[in-house]
Amino acid sequence: MHNLRRFLTVSTSVLALAVLSGCPTPNPPASSNKVVVLGYNDLGMHCMNEDFSEIMILPPYNTLHAQVIERRGEEPRILQSGVTVSYTIPGNTTSSDKTNFWDYVEDLFGVSVDPDVGLTGNGLSGTMVPTGTNDWVATGIPVTPVMDNDDLNPYPLATITVNRSGEDVATTQAVVPVSWEISCNLCHATDASDGQADASVAMDILTDHDRLHSTTLASQTPVACMECHAQAPLGTTGDPSLSHAMHGAHASRMAAANLQVDCYACHPGQVTQCLRDVHYANGMTCVDCHGDMTDVADPSRQPWADEPRCDDCHNKSGFEFEQPGTLYRDSKGHHGVHCAACHGSPHAITPSVEDADNVQAIALQGHAGTIDTCTVCHTQRPDDHFDHRLDDDGDEDEDDKLLVSALQ
Ligand code: HEC
Ligand code: HEC
Ligand code: HEC
Ligand code: HEC
Ligand code: HEC
Ligand code: HEC
Ligand code: HEC
Repeated sequence: MHNLRRFLTVSTSVLALAVLSGCPTPNPPASSNKVVVLGYNDLGMHCMNEDFSEIMILPPYNTLHAQVIERRGEEPRILQSGVTVSYTIPGNTTSSDKTNFWDYVEDLFGVSVDPDVGLTGNGLSGTMVPTGTNDWVATGIPVTPVMDNDDLNPYPLATITVNRSGEDVATTQAVVPVSWEISCNLCHATDASDGQADASVAMDILTDHDRLHSTTLASQTPVACMECHAQAPLGTTGDPSLSHAMHGAHASRMAAANLQVDCYACHPGQVTQCLRDVHYANGMTCVDCHGDMTDVADPSRQPWADEPRCDDCHNKSGFEFEQPGTLYRDSKGHHGVHCAACHGSPHAITPSVEDADNVQAIALQGHAGTIDTCTVCHTQRPDDHFDHRLDDDGDEDEDDKLLVSALQ
């Protein structure tokens, strides 16, 4: 079903081979820092509505992760306690003056949250909490794509800082991607071309829905699609899911948008270009990994869970990729380091054509792309070879480690 076959031969760069087989490579001088922090976003792009007065597909809700590693020789230690991890988004410090979300949050969710505070209680700066799976997280950050100086920027950089015993011991910058470029207006118009003039694009959508499905949404604004359609990110149920409903119903309508990549009619977008990574640079588009609208609408797919996997295409020998049944974003490699810590967020697999995505790798190792420089985490280059896979004791049980080395 997916259009994978023509990508089956994935080559290996000479440089990567050199790194992995232990040939001397120009590692930058070891940093004197004792701790390193790597930041990444769970989705690679968060969509939100700009205006919540009529319809809501998705609220502002960005989820930022960080992995904190104490640099050591052979065995860097993944820190899950004993430090404070905080984040700020310089230049993007308010949201309630940029979207009317807070005017409608009570209608939409039945809860009231203070302006600039998101649905899980986090603001535009704050502290991260341990996930229990090797990293730290701040969920539901209500960031918008509008900077404080009014510039539109879907790739603002967060600063993440690690403090131990009152001293800042590590910092990094990671993108908090967000966009409201959802172009329903390419086809849903306010004119009377469909027999009815509507006051807004959202009203056209609601009146179409009412006419086709005998609902009365147009008189119930603001309408949250999640009230009746399952949306896993919002934890709601309801058949058909919004994903099945939207992709299925629109699959035969896409010609009207006349786009090179159909997906950009509703996903961000013609301007934002949320797919900006090494795959984009190699000429791939959404369809190469996800299939087309009909594939995404396949009733046997579970939305938000059955997604493409790196090992659909990559099969480098000796390497392991995602854990079985686990999304890329939740998977770990190399002794418990999260895949995204070394490779970046989904759709932003480094090197990215978007400079902001490359800032972290350049700061840590002097070049963009995969974190492939041992001394980012090890104080000196280990003698042993680089193991890409997660060990079965990936949860860092020190006692097991000692036992294993005693036996060797
Ligand atoms: C490529 C054109 C196109 C785009 C883009 C598009 N729509 Fe539609 N949509 C249609 C057409 C055509 C209809 C059918 C209208 C009719 O029969 O009156 C429709 C109908 C709908 C309906 C009515 C329910 C149904 O049976 O389909 C909803 C709801 C809807 N669209 C939501 C959206 C939303 C939300 C977006 C943006 C995220 C969007 N559409 C983007 C073309 C489009
Ligand atoms: C009050 C409940 C309700 C709300 C709220 C609601 N829908 Fe629906 N929707 C339905 C029902 C019922 C159907 C028809 C389902 C069927 O035929 O199986 C439907 C069908 C659809 C379809 C067509 C599915 C298909 O396969 O033809 C689309 C697209 C859709 N909804 C999109 C939306 C969007 C977008 C929103 C938010 C703006 C929304 N709905 C809000 C109840 C709702
Ligand atoms: C007509 C609008 C529209 C178009 C066109 C569209 N999408 Fe979507 N897509 C949506 C909406 C709305 C959601 C959010 C559903 C939710 O919140 O659960 C979504 C969610 C998704 C998801 C996450 C949920 C899931 O099913 O796993 C994937 C993946 C996805 N789209 C892929 C694509 C791809 C690939 C294309 C192009 C082939 C595409 N979409 C085109 C509207 C669209
Ligand atoms: C190189 C393969 C690849 C390409 C190209 C690609 N995706 Fe994805 N996509 C993935 C993977 C892998 C995931 C699962 C990521 C995860 O959650 O761990 C995913 C997940 C998603 C999701 C669900 C949110 C999430 O991150 O889980 C949406 C929505 C989505 N993709 C839309 C798109 C759209 C739209 C495009 C084109 C603009 C696109 N994808 C291009 C591989 C790809
Ligand atoms: C649909 C197939 C497909 C999927 C799915 C896919 N890739 Fe790729 N990937 C490719 C192709 C094709 C290239 C570029 C050609 C090449 O390097 O041979 C590539 C290149 C890369 C590169 C650069 C490799 C190098 O040596 O230059 C990295 C890193 C990478 N992918 C990581 C990932 C990750 C991480 C995932 C999962 C989130 C993923 N890929 C999912 C097909 C895929
Ligand atoms: C400690 C850093 C690190 C971690 C963690 C890591 N990788 Fe890698 N990965 C690398 C390096 C180094 C390479 C080889 C250089 C390259 O291809 O960019 C690589 C290569 C890859 C490739 C390209 C393989 C090919 O075909 O050439 C994919 C795909 C990939 N990794 C996916 C993953 C996935 C999935 C995870 C998590 C299960 C993961 N990586 C965890 C560092 C890492
Ligand atoms: C992003 C951080 C990171 C990078 C980059 C990294 N490592 Fe590691 N490495 C770790 C962590 C964390 C461990 C786990 C130590 C433990 O199990 O206690 C580890 C463990 C190891 C071990 C096993 C040590 C033992 O005794 O169990 C070896 C060997 C190793 N790394 C080699 C390498 C090589 C070679 C490179 C460069 C190609 C590299 N690593 C790059 C984080 C990293």
